[in-house]
Amino acid sequence: MEFSKQFELINTIPKAELHVHIEGTFEPELMFSIAERNAIRLKYNSVEDLRAAYNFNNLQEFLDIYYAGAFVLLHEQDFYDLTMAYLKKCHEENVVHTEIFFDPQTHTDRGVPLELVVNGILQACIDARNQWGISYRLIPNFLRHLSEEEAIKTFNEALKFGELFTAFGLDSSEVGHPPVKFKKVFDMVRAEGFKTVAHAGEEGPAQNVWDAMQLLQVSRIDHGVRSIDDPKLLEELARKKMPLTVCPLSNLKLKVVDVMADHPLKQLLDNNIVATVNSDDPAYFGGYLNANFQAVTTALNLSCDDIITLAANSFKASFLPHEKIQLWLNKISHLKF
Ligand code: HPA
Ligand code: ZN
Repeated sequence: MEFSKQFELINTIPKAELHVHIEGTFEPELMFSIAERNAIRLKYNSVEDLRAAYNFNNLQEFLDIYYAGAFVLLHEQDFYDLTMAYLKKCHEENVVHTEIFFDPQTHTDRGVPLELVVNGILQACIDARNQWGISYRLIPNFLRHLSEEEAIKTFNEALKFGELFTAFGLDSSEVGHPPVKFKKVFDMVRAEGFKTVAHAGEEGPAQNVWDAMQLLQVSRIDHGVRSIDDPKLLEELARKKMPLTVCPLSNLKLKVVDVMADHPLKQLLDNNIVATVNSDDPAYFGGYLNANFQAVTTALNLSCDDIITLAANSFKASFLPHEKIQLWLNKISHLKF
């Protein structure tokens, strides 16, 4: 099968990315250079040694390495450089809008002030908007392996940034930390007028997707691929137009699927679900957004129409204002293909 037409479309079509952890865009080369300037010794001797460690049997094995990598981020400039490197990739790949996750507790728990983290990320976003016209949203995530009290403390601290954050999310170890554990803090988040999202149905069961919708009242489900196990849930996701931010290379690397040909993305689309494609932690999982599109296109035999649907879904599911969404949808519908 020849996919050159699809690949050209993937590269040229405007896209939004809705599920990317900024700490997961930390490329080994940048990690080594920041570690050096911060006089921190890494556990690995070289970029190659570090990359060779990126073999994971499950989510937790990845998270252990991902949190260790974030340890070298100390100064505002570090967060700026990290974010700017990712935004440059966006520019190269025609990602025109990105909704960036970050983990405040990964930094505040080691004494790095939240203000410094946010300022570094934000300044890179402002510069990328001015240079390349990329729009952005920032979404702090609570770490679900920590307590709800700690999430509440983080939320109260985040309130001083006013409307800078569009939504709050929930990430880290899903198994053993179901949505109900964070019902109270999510009630507080919505009461202050923020949207909510949550990782659910990645390694955990389809029930976590139900609970994220019903208990946490999320606007989107991050991952959600285990929904495929529950036909009633698929119906409900389609009926509610509840978007799923699917991350194919992540699912492959963390063994959520054994091979990409088993990935449920195409079935989700066939069930009229607003599925989107995203990179999650691209430095760890072997590719940025376009690589994710390419991987599912070849493995699942996606057509140009499927790719157009996925790109359109990325804007429909975004937190952009209605007029901006329409603008991008119009651009996509006028593409000559
Ligand atoms: N799942 C849960 N937590 C995460 C992930 C993920 O894929 N990436 C970064 N934190
Ligand atoms: Zn994620």
